[in-house]
Amino acid sequence: MSESLATLPAPDLAGADAVAAGSDEVLVVDYGGQYSQLIARRIRDCGVFSELVAHTVPLEEIASRRPRGIVLSGGPASVYADGAPRLQRGLLDLGVPVLGICYGMQLLMHELGGRVEQAQVGEFGRSNLTVANAGTLLAGLPAQQTCWMSHRDTVFEPPAGFTALASSTASPVAAVEDRERGIYGIQFHPEVVHTPYGEDILIRFLTDICGCERTWTAASIVQDQIERIRAQVGEGSAICGLSGGVDSSVAALLVHRAIGDRLTCVFVDHGLMRKQEGEQVIETFRDTFRVPLVAVDAEQRFLSKLAGVTEPERKRKVIGEEFIRVFEEEAKRLAGDDGDGSARYLVQGTLYSDVIESGGRPGSATIKSHHNVGGLPEDLDFDLVEPLRSLFKDEVRAVGTELGLPDRLVWRQPFPGPGLAIRVVGGEASRERLDVLREADHILQEEIRAAGLYRELWQSFCVLPDIRTVGVQGDERTYGNVVVIRAVTSDDAMTADWARLPYDLLEKIASRMMGEIREVNRVVLDITSKPPGTIEWE
Ligand code: XMP
Repeated sequence: MSESLATLPAPDLAGADAVAAGSDEVLVVDYGGQYSQLIARRIRDCGVFSELVAHTVPLEEIASRRPRGIVLSGGPASVYADGAPRLQRGLLDLGVPVLGICYGMQLLMHELGGRVEQAQVGEFGRSNLTVANAGTLLAGLPAQQTCWMSHRDTVFEPPAGFTALASSTASPVAAVEDRERGIYGIQFHPEVVHTPYGEDILIRFLTDICGCERTWTAASIVQDQIERIRAQVGEGSAICGLSGGVDSSVAALLVHRAIGDRLTCVFVDHGLMRKQEGEQVIETFRDTFRVPLVAVDAEQRFLSKLAGVTEPERKRKVIGEEFIRVFEEEAKRLAGDDGDGSARYLVQGTLYSDVIESGGRPGSATIKSHHNVGGLPEDLDFDLVEPLRSLFKDEVRAVGTELGLPDRLVWRQPFPGPGLAIRVVGGEASRERLDVLREADHILQEEIRAAGLYRELWQSFCVLPDIRTVGVQGDERTYGNVVVIRAVTSDDAMTADWARLPYDLLEKIASRMMGEIREVNRVVLDITSKPPGTIEWE
């Protein structure tokens, strides 16, 4: 998560919340496949709640959630490899349908007595699927269709009791079912866009086979979360650190809907925001939504702490520490206000992806270290309210829209907690340099939005290096600042590509910057991807 305030204390990593009573749920048992999360997302897109569970999770835990169906995900292993994840056979005795995808299917076939072998060649990418017997799973779908494959082990014969439904060029058995036992399998990936009928297959599984109601929508999420927040907070009160990003904004609005003015939001303006961003947050929350809001103008405090600090990690530390201090002061003050001894809660915008990543998936070694600003001191003694803990980012946006949050906030690009301070690179984040950067950034944002490109870009921003270059402006020689334009596309910030902005747009941006900002006499474009570069310069 790249919001600053939304990541205050370390979240409880015990696993995502179970779905509310009443909603149907299908669990995805994760065997470490690259698309496992995507399967859960696609199931939710079909209107059914879904979460990942590790393949090591005890059977009782899975059973206790009373899922309507189970999906076994893909995974990198071969069923013949030492230490390959095994099937918990009890999954087949839960009395609900099971769908194996890729490795999930191979595992089912292997364990139930089918013939799975390593083929001479793997099958990767687009493949042609021929449906010989549609069965229940593929009923109504074309006899010929494309699908996306990514496997080496191949099913040659299904176990007794199973019907082979389809084959592909390299997979003699690419889809199977045993209706009696409620076990289904597909070798290809229905969750990726390259399988055009993938969604139909998932819907068939979810509705006709599992009997799920497709009622999981942004509106139902809002209703469900409001009830849960009320149940958790009771008559207590809560505070929420607002950063201006979508996660903390949506979390705050949900809690406000649930407990009204017993929520107070705290917005710490550290003076490192974009132009007009602080005002927009205040206007949206205080004036439009009428959420009790404490806006702390802490610019001077932050800038004086940042004086003389040029080393990037030091900047982050100084900002993080000061942020905690300001937030803590406000929290203590607010606690003193009501003093009735009722429980106090801290609202956080933790997302499902944070829960999954921080918890670490079995078999996946990398655990992303968040760029958060550190933890709150323990003596503040808050209980956490995390209403977004089971939601993906796109669902958070849908909930934001459902709650009436303006598009500007719903679709805001990620912005780092330390803000513009880490974009004044190689030098001190002084007020003067921040102002130059803020103006340049404002022009960039305006033009990117006007060109209709804002949502397509993961991030677009300016960097102000601590160098001067010579120019001629009017009749004068100038010795001015260089502004770097950085715009990237990305899915998750782990990798990124530099965005191919149109030349005409770049020219307009550059000439506005050099015309409107006296201190700027040169504009350059960063054409570095990640890797090898990072998105930010510091
Ligand atoms: P890098 O520069 O590592 O950035 O490619 C990846 C993503 O993280 C954001 N970022 C930060 N977010 N505090 C934050 O809250 C930070 O200190 C920080 N540094 C980088 C960056 O904007 C990008 O989205």
